Amino acid sequence: MSQSFTKAMARNIFYGGSLFFILVFLGLSFDTNSSLPERDNRGAITETVAHGKRLWEENNCIGCHTLLGEGAYFAPELGNVYKRLGGKAGIIGFIKSRPAASVSLIS
Ligand code: HEC
Repeated sequence: MSQSFTKAMARNIFYGGSLFFILVFLGLSFDTNSSLPERDNRGAITETVAHGKRLWEENNCIGCHTLLGEGAYFAPELGNVYKRLGGKAGIIGFIKSRPAASVSLIS
């Protein structure tokens, strides 16, 4: 029996491997697409949520903060800040506790 690695063997490994991974890719794509409707939260996007997103993007909050782990690690995570600071009153209290000079920088 010959122990050499022939061109035909290399071709078969190439085609077989390609076919295998194309099938894995198609299977995972189909699985992801079929689970999308359960993960869709489009209905929860209200005008207030959209306004918050605009505010977040226009003022570059992500430049210092993380939101659900996404962003910069300079300032505290804001995903749970509403609960952590005690709701609306806590947020208002935090804003009022800031020195007036630094607030005027944000225009
Ligand atoms: C230049 C960096 C920077 C940017 C940009 C920034 N922040 Fe902050 N933010 C901080 C730092 C630093 C703190 C922590 C201050 C402290 O605790 O005294 C903070 C604290 C906060 C807190 C309180 C968090 C807590 O756990 O006490 C909130 C809420 C907040 N920022 C909201 C925002 C929002 C909303 C934006 C965008 C409009 C924003 N920040 C943009 C640096 C930034």
